[in-house]
Amino acid sequence: MAIKIRPLSHAIGAELSGVDLSRPVDEATRAEIHKAWLEHLVIVFRGQDLTPQRQIAFGRMFGELDDHKAVPFYRHPEHPEIYLITNKKIGGKESQTKDTGRLWHSDHSFTTHPTTATMLYCREIPPVGGTTMFANMYLAYETLSPGLRALLDKLEAVHSLEHYTSHNPYFSVRDPAQIAKMHELSPPVAQPVVRTHPETGRKALYVSEGQTERFVGMSREESHGLLQFLFAHSVKPEFTYRHNWNVSDMLMWDNRCTMHLALADYSHVHSRHMHRLTVLGAPCGRLLEAQELQ
Ligand code: OGA
Ligand code: MN
Repeated sequence: MAIKIRPLSHAIGAELSGVDLSRPVDEATRAEIHKAWLEHLVIVFRGQDLTPQRQIAFGRMFGELDDHKAVPFYRHPEHPEIYLITNKKIGGKESQTKDTGRLWHSDHSFTTHPTTATMLYCREIPPVGGTTMFANMYLAYETLSPGLRALLDKLEAVHSLEHYTSHNPYFSVRDPAQIAKMHELSPPVAQPVVRTHPETGRKALYVSEGQTERFVGMSREESHGLLQFLFAHSVKPEFTYRHNWNVSDMLMWDNRCTMHLALADYSHVHSRHMHRLTVLGAPCGRLLEAQELQ
């Protein structure tokens, strides 16, 4: 059956129908999905009946999967490739992934091996809310003036987990030793401010409120004004799509040219439970040199 593609907003996102991901996907179908994904940046498959094995098999068709060794706590007990984004208690303990993604970000941009594709599969969702927003970072770049684009083209920015954990009021890890360990595992990195997508060749703005601390070679104070402008500009409503989840939706997004935000628009009285899988792509960025640290 041919895949039908229905755009979900002017800027970003499309629903793909006529694909059953619970069955093996052939190469022609994979190629069609891949093309739609590159074009629409976030694709939505509804009503999917996916075991972890099937989600993993589908994910592998797009590249090597992360096994989340650096953050082992919320891996699926039998499938290390599946990471649980959940507000349900795990082993009787409060979940530390219940408020994942509460600031705009692109997955793992604070590492030199940022995530290419994220696939998030909804298992439980509150009766209202629990929505996720996405922004088209090609558009964010293309709508800047030529003068600012030329300036940004030459810059790198510091992305760090430390920035994320210290600016995020929802960050739920409280144990200082655990936080110190996380920072040690993820030292700050320099990323291009404008990232050229390796598959489409298009340029996308690659800074985020959640993870970008300052420009390389500049202080935080000097960087602040321009970064704040870019953060606000990138997420203008007309560059975004907001996904209202249904159980059994599977979303796949391209972190090389998008950002996303998990909104705190629901009550934790209700369960929100997602199976997340990430495809590792080509490395991007570099570790900061000692003299570039501040
Ligand atoms: C993620 C993430 C968003 C959400 O899985 O990377 O940010 O809505 N999740 O759960
Ligand atoms: Mn994320």
